[in-house]
Formats: sequence, C-alpha cells, structure tokens
Amino acid sequence: MARLTVNGTEHDVDLPGEVPLLWVLRDQLNLTGTKYGCGVAACGACTVQIDGEAVRSCQVALSDVWGAVTTIEGLGQPDNLHRLQQAWIDHQVAQCGYCQSGQIMQAAALLASNPTPTDDDIDAAMNGNLCRCGTYPRIRAAIKSVSEGA
Ligand code: FES
Ligand code: FES
Repeated sequence: MARLTVNGTEHDVDLPGEVPLLWVLRDQLNLTGTKYGCGVAACGACTVQIDGEAVRSCQVALSDVWGAVTTIEGLGQPDNLHRLQQAWIDHQVAQCGYCQSGQIMQAAALLASNPTPTDDDIDAAMNGNLCRCGTYPRIRAAIKSVSEGA
C-alpha cells in the first residue's frame, strides 16, 4: 500500500510498487487528463509535476514517487484557471489536444523556476514535449504572454 498526495488529496493506492505513476493516475484515480503517448520518456504527453518538478509519469514507479503530485486537473480550478491555461485558451493553442496537458505542466514548471524565460529558454525547456499537430509557435507565444504579463 502506498500513500500518494495528488492535487492536494491523499490517496492510499494498493498496487505493486513498480506500476508507473501514469497508470496509477489514469486507471486508479481516474485522472485521465494525463496522457499516454510513447511509454518511454520520448514524447512528454504524460508530464506531471512532483514537488513542482516536471516528470514523465510513464517512467516514475509508484514506489519512487518522492513528493506531492500535481496533474493538469490540479493546476488550476474550473472557475480560476491557472494563468497558463487561460493563455492556452487566449492563443487557441490546442489542435487535437492530446499533447497539451503535458505541454502545460512542463511550461508551468518552467515559469515557476524562470518567470521570464527567453525564446531559447522556452525551446530548451519544451524540447522534450512533442506535438504531432505542430502547435509549437502557439505554445511559445502563450508561454511568452504569461512571462511578460500580457
Ligand atoms: S508517455 Fe511518457 S514520455 Fe511519452
Ligand atoms: S495538439 Fe495534437 S499532438 Fe499536440
């Protein structure tokens, strides 16, 4: 039995320790905003935060979770969106949307550590989050708008 704090709520999870966090979130806790893409840390669709650090949840075993988990469902509130979520809407970033929760979680971790990233900072931080729809210019614009307080 493992105890996990996810989006501010504690959960007792009765699964083997080697189960990836991604499947705990999706199958056990019904937090399906976090997506499965590649399963090998190559796409970023499964990105969540542990103690504010962006991690690939497909690669973190349940027994290795070292802190509080935040998923896209816990980043903002329905009536009080995180400023990045609002920027994503304002810039109409998403196309199919599949990669976007991972993109936002990665971007939120970037802005928490670097509130005014340069284009190079953004590109470096977001490099591992792939988007088959090619929304990269809008992702960068949305992040820039938040970093500039626009
Ligand atoms: S599903 Fe985890 S990085 Fe692709
Ligand atoms: S919006 Fe479709 S994969 Fe990114």
